[in-house]
Amino acid sequence: SKTWQLLGYDINDDWPGYSLDLFSYPAHYSGDIDCVIIPHGVIMDRTERLARNIMDDLGDHDIVVLCVLKGGYQFCADLVDRIKALSRNSDRTIPMRVHFIRLKSYLNDQSTEDLHILGAEDLSFLAGKNVLIVEAIVGTGKTMKTLLKHVEAFRPKMIKVAGLLVKRVPHNSACLPDYVGFEIPDRFVVGYALDYNEYFRDLNHICVISESGKMKYKI
Ligand code: HPA
Ligand code: MG
Repeated sequence: SKTWQLLGYDINDDWPGYSLDLFSYPAHYSGDIDCVIIPHGVIMDRTERLARNIMDDLGDHDIVVLCVLKGGYQFCADLVDRIKALSRNSDRTIPMRVHFIRLKSYLNDQSTEDLHILGAEDLSFLAGKNVLIVEAIVGTGKTMKTLLKHVEAFRPKMIKVAGLLVKRVPHNSACLPDYVGFEIPDRFVVGYALDYNEYFRDLNHICVISESGKMKYKI
């Protein structure tokens, strides 16, 4: 069994979350979520700090950001924004490209075996660059491991991974991000671009889906 070391801002298994009454969220999701586990403002504050950590490590050379769609689009956009802000306020500015790839492996709340990588056929422009892979959530780390192997083949100067969320699931020691926003319990979360069958991307906070929400949007 793995002993957890603190990777990111830690949200305990017994943390009940914030009551939905404390925040605003779209009325079309009332009844579909149980609680807020990470309010949007906290995500933004943590992202600002991650941006600084990333620039400390990667800011000496051209950066290519590899955004893992779809779930990573919001985190990537906000993280890139913060990195740009640091670049504006510093005399040492670094050119940054953003490239999008798509991974698909989830149906309902279950991971399926076959992983598809789209948009990653020719990544030869990564050669000699500092690459930052940006993912919304890391579970077992199997996906990340596959992706890293694929990217390494294009010979970047350095590869780092930023994951907004790391889930405490059994056997997730396979691969962990270099930069972690939050460690969360092994529960299915939605919001901030994370979906359940394409729903909930239009929710700002990271929330725990309710049983009735799972039923309502099941395929
Ligand atoms: N929510 C949304 N997408 C996911 C999750 C999750 O908890 N885990 C892996 N993909
Ligand atoms: Mg998904």
